[in-house]
Amino acid sequence: TISQVHAREIFDSRGNPTVEAEVTLSDGTMGRAEVPSGASTGEKEAVELRDGGERLGGKGVLKAVKNVNTEINKALQGLDPFNQGHIDHVMIDLDGTPNKARLGANAILGVSMANVRAAANEQHTPLYRYLGGTDLELPQTFHNVINGGEHADNDIDIQEFMITPIERTSFRDGFEKIVNTYHTLKRILAKRGESTGLGDEGGFAPNLKSSEEALQLLHDAITQAGYKPGKEIGIAFDAAASYFYNKDTKKYDLEGHSYTPDELSDHYAAWFKKFPEIISIEDPYSEDDWDNFVKFTKKYGSQIQIVADDPVCTNPQLIAEAIKRGLANSILIKLNQIGTVTETLEAVRLARKNGYTTMISHRSGETGDTFVADFTVAVNGGELKAGAPARSERVEKYNQLLRIEEQLGQDSSRLARFPDSVDYD
Ligand code: PGA
Ligand code: ZN
Repeated sequence: TISQVHAREIFDSRGNPTVEAEVTLSDGTMGRAEVPSGASTGEKEAVELRDGGERLGGKGVLKAVKNVNTEINKALQGLDPFNQGHIDHVMIDLDGTPNKARLGANAILGVSMANVRAAANEQHTPLYRYLGGTDLELPQTFHNVINGGEHADNDIDIQEFMITPIERTSFRDGFEKIVNTYHTLKRILAKRGESTGLGDEGGFAPNLKSSEEALQLLHDAITQAGYKPGKEIGIAFDAAASYFYNKDTKKYDLEGHSYTPDELSDHYAAWFKKFPEIISIEDPYSEDDWDNFVKFTKKYGSQIQIVADDPVCTNPQLIAEAIKRGLANSILIKLNQIGTVTETLEAVRLARKNGYTTMISHRSGETGDTFVADFTVAVNGGELKAGAPARSERVEKYNQLLRIEEQLGQDSSRLARFPDSVDYD
């Protein structure tokens, strides 16, 4: 049984406070987890409890820590750590709000993940195995190598430009291709006199004039690294369009131009045509602009992966609504958007059951915790985005996948499901 739940305030990859939780069992086994934090957060995310006031810019999490050490500790003592669903629902009920605003999603998620670890440790089972059982596969990974939007201080409005291995003989083989492409991109930027400083997710943050320039750079890096765009390495991007949506004009203000929703759709389509290696686009419209999301999916959903992040925030109720309306064909999954492991598993199941793909995701503010890598393997998540192959809080997720691949054997790395290139005429 659970004998103690404890939390402390630690710091994330941006130097902001976050919650670390520990669950100790009666036999002394302990599980620990660290909670990540986003910057381009969706409005419907579960509430990350911050202290406010003067200390640490108001971002302290001592209230959330106290909630773990008092109320949550008291409620979970004596419970069975192997019944994760029960543990999570006890915390949801104790919180009593629809969005975990009272105790904090950061408090609840920390304990939820730490309990999974404690239970896995008690059974001497790897985390991915404890959560997932047998017949597991390594995910296809998406690597944000040019950072814009809320993640960098440049003028690019599209948030994330990603590269992803398509053909690969193993996870390691795919990751090596990504690393080679990343280093090639750095050389290209340096030769052009651009900054090679890094953004929040380990990607470069050069001061480019447009997103199209960023896409061209990725295309050039893939080619110059010796790979076939669209066959060996594909491109994906997260527009995070809520952040350039103008609520007054109902237009999208992107890099000096104001686009109507239809014009924006054409703008994206021009990129798909110019760069057929683009295989996935996330949040092409604002989180409240469901009509245009649906319209876009009707038009391009059979050719390209369209991922919904901010409109659904890993919330099973919102995902159900999105599926009913045909909002996208893929769901982004972030543990801390909903706040428990149980509800995150529910979100994945719901999406899959309805033929949607799932892309499991880190946050822009991360920690050294590799929970998300194990989680992705456990749910046969298919896809994981965890940043560039740089900055240890990113790379550790991939290093963990290398370890898991070694344990599972190389045949567990399936090939990507995407077509090698698409004709948009
Ligand atoms: P965030 O960005 O972690 O800053 O929210 C990730 C995303 O929008 O997918
Ligand atoms: Zn996103």
